[in-house]
Amino acid sequence: MDSDRGEWRSRTGFVLAAAGSAVGLGNIWKFPYITGQNGGAAFLIVYLVLVFTIGISVMLAELAIGRAARRNPVGAFARLNGGKWTMVGYAGVACAFLILPFYSVVGGWTIAYIVKVAGGLAGGGDIDSLASAFRTFTADPLEPLVYLALFMALTIAVVAGGVRHGIERWCILLFPALIAIMLLLVVRALTLPGAAKGVTFFLAPDFAKITPAVFHAALSQAFFSLALGMGAMITYGSYLTPRLSLPWAAGWVTALDTGIAILAGLAILPAVFAFGFNPAEGPGLTFITLPAVFSRMPGGTLFGVLFFLLLALAALTSALSLLEVAVAYFVDEKGMKRRTAAVGLGFVMFVLGIPASLSLGLWSGATVWDKTIFDLMQYAALNVLLPLGGICISLFVGWVIWPRALAEISTAAGHAPVWAPAWRVICRYIAPAVIAWILFGGL
Ligand code: TRP
Repeated sequence: MDSDRGEWRSRTGFVLAAAGSAVGLGNIWKFPYITGQNGGAAFLIVYLVLVFTIGISVMLAELAIGRAARRNPVGAFARLNGGKWTMVGYAGVACAFLILPFYSVVGGWTIAYIVKVAGGLAGGGDIDSLASAFRTFTADPLEPLVYLALFMALTIAVVAGGVRHGIERWCILLFPALIAIMLLLVVRALTLPGAAKGVTFFLAPDFAKITPAVFHAALSQAFFSLALGMGAMITYGSYLTPRLSLPWAAGWVTALDTGIAILAGLAILPAVFAFGFNPAEGPGLTFITLPAVFSRMPGGTLFGVLFFLLLALAALTSALSLLEVAVAYFVDEKGMKRRTAAVGLGFVMFVLGIPASLSLGLWSGATVWDKTIFDLMQYAALNVLLPLGGICISLFVGWVIWPRALAEISTAAGHAPVWAPAWRVICRYIAPAVIAWILFGGL
């Protein structure tokens, strides 16, 4: 085995680590508000269709590339083919430097809100004062940076511990805790008087609401939520043993990620409706509306603290995978020690997070195309680079390394699954065409 690389201990450990990477702010913070903004159940249907056709195929493609090459994204493309495909790997590593900084800013907010809600922030539950508390906090030049540093320090500490003793061990511990807290919150939300309206909004589709914009939102949400398009799953797949069934793993990770997103919808939207708030509130839904919701329910402070704890844990297990992509590159290709890479790169990510955070306050005037630094990082990664990465990864598997990819999903005796030809058609034609159509049609 390569010196500082590592390998997962068990298949459960791998699935929980990969699911930990997938389940994050994307599921619990973004999914409910994007669903709220895009017509509820209509969005959910488009999302599910995209996840279980294109999403799961790209997930399998990434895992196959990773395990076939046993390298970080740059090394993986270089090993399997070389030439210009290696660019896809570089774009992936670069993406980590775009996503992790703004992701950690929001990760820091979640820790801050554990403290604030425990300290009675929700108090009277007046929505205007909660909104201004949120704006004052995020615009503060110092406080969010302290929490950003704390969040990044936790991420670094786990990644420095390695694949098995850091990432896998913590995800085995944190992921079940996350599911338990989530179930508790769903039960609480569904038993609120007036919850039914939110359930209807979330689950009973109005097909007239399906527009091209809904497709675009659903596609970028699918890539972001499943952690696809930049090589995180290539990296995690590279630490897999040859025996594990990749379709089984891809199926579980996709199902867990989607299941948690739906649970988050069920925990948040019914509560929002029960108290008459606006589901299309946007990014503030979690940080403004929810504390108001909590203040109106019995045991609200406890549920509020649990919720933000859940959000912080989910964000942390995702941030690990973002840092790991960059760390794997420097460990594999530059011969750096894992610890040095984790600390050094984590520090760089922290520094890049500072302008992202400040752009919500002090530097909010500095905009390009009407977008703040925070929004630009998010837009470039989620709406452009991840879907483009998905196109390249699909094409690579479908056209360039098909025999190798087929071997990765076949049994030890060489039996290919019956659906292999369908996967090939999706990788070769359907996924690239549909992604390109949604991406460029919608821009
Ligand atoms: N999937 C995570 C979330 O939903 C975010 C994330 C982690 C991610 N690793 C990624 C997104 C790699 C894209 C690529 O919050």
